[in-house]
Amino acid sequence: MTKLKVSYTCTECGAMSPKWSGQCSDCEAWNSLTEVAMATTKSALLNQNSRFKGYAGVEEIAVVGLASIPTSLEIRVSSGLTELDRVLGGGLVSGSAILIGGDPGIGKSTILLQTLSNLSQHCQALYITGEESLQQVKLRAERLGVAEMQLQLLAETQVERILEIAAKVKPQIMVVDSIQTIYTELLQSAPGSVGQVRESAAQLVRYAKQTGTALFLVGHVTKEGTLAGPRVLEHMVDTVLYFEGDPDSRFRVIRAVKNRFGAVNELGIFAMTDRGLKEVNNPSAIFLSRYNEPVAGSVVMVTWEGSRPMLIEVQALVDESHLANPRRVTVGLEQNRLALALAVLHRHCGVVTYNQDVFVNIVGGVRVTETAADLAMLLAVVSSLKNRALPHDLIVFGEVGLAGEIRPVQSGQERLKEAAKHGFKRAIVPFGNAPKSPIDGMEVLPIKRLSDALLHV
Ligand code: TYD
Ligand code: MG
Repeated sequence: MTKLKVSYTCTECGAMSPKWSGQCSDCEAWNSLTEVAMATTKSALLNQNSRFKGYAGVEEIAVVGLASIPTSLEIRVSSGLTELDRVLGGGLVSGSAILIGGDPGIGKSTILLQTLSNLSQHCQALYITGEESLQQVKLRAERLGVAEMQLQLLAETQVERILEIAAKVKPQIMVVDSIQTIYTELLQSAPGSVGQVRESAAQLVRYAKQTGTALFLVGHVTKEGTLAGPRVLEHMVDTVLYFEGDPDSRFRVIRAVKNRFGAVNELGIFAMTDRGLKEVNNPSAIFLSRYNEPVAGSVVMVTWEGSRPMLIEVQALVDESHLANPRRVTVGLEQNRLALALAVLHRHCGVVTYNQDVFVNIVGGVRVTETAADLAMLLAVVSSLKNRALPHDLIVFGEVGLAGEIRPVQSGQERLKEAAKHGFKRAIVPFGNAPKSPIDGMEVLPIKRLSDALLHV
């Protein structure tokens, strides 16, 4: 093994220091120095670089024409779960590194064990567990009904030993659960520290690129909501998947936030059952479970997730506030967006909320990031404020501009068709999204300004 020296580098400014201290001497950031392994001699450096051979092209440095590079057909292997394939952009690519993050207990180990067992029927699959014992994995496999599969297991946490064994087993798919438990002997810091996570992941990813192994890394979300500290792994891997869901609800959503092999913001929807995660094939209305009676403060919107529409319920509660700074709380939506929308509501429609606490929630633990939720959010707020229920068969979508105008959103037609399919009869939509030909059974009310929308509340 090449002798490597340990050094400390600042995560904020990149300054190097031979010893650790609480504050970076260059940029004066606190607590930003992390341990990194450094090659000391030229030969060691070369040796380290040669591990990149064929992947970053370190060996032969020459200029090539883009057109002259042969395109090798990207071969995708289905994971056996179509919803997972969808977020991966159509299946697993060999040599790709995928980071799958999420809160503890959300189902990361479960879905990977299911996927790997499926895949082990056609190829060599290796599951490395750093968190659970082999018996625990076996018990889970029995529960999932996959205990008889040809899956190879390894309980190990040292990355050098993992790579040694992987070189013998030659898996085509490998799972490391979780990267926070893995450590490298090059560094002295504890497993789970930024330096350890980064260095171990780098070694594993390098191995995956070299051998064409598809690699899954499981990452826990730290208290701050980022993956293993300051998102240290996201730039190293090809794909970042994120597991979301309300712990109380049985639905789980996998979202791609980065994907070098497909579209991002694609969603895969699963339901947690007593026999593992099952796919939800027609998810567009699973988050809609409404009272039969129309209630004030509730609006249904059609959101666009990746490549398909989804119906969700936006709820608002507006209540008299006794605080100097009334509360603006959102769950599943961006809080700043609510503050902005309320300002537009006041300025352009004269609706006052500065003496009111405003709470907005997306039912079912879904998170909506698109601006098409603006109009639904505001209609829910006004409906709650006036204590007047909106019609039960109404759907809404549209972006609210700062001038009080309603702006069109993408895929308006598809959203309306999806709502019509689920029996909605009326729609308040931006003028720019009004359909050219009528949609069966759907009365569309196109609007230009926010004040027009409030006439319907
Ligand atoms: P797990 O995959 O261990 O979570 P993670 O690896 O993300 O920490 O998920 C465990 C949870 O899922 C646990 O709360 C129990 C539940 N579960 C089921 O409901 N059904 C099942 O068949 C399995 C295996 C787990
Ligand atoms: Mg786990």
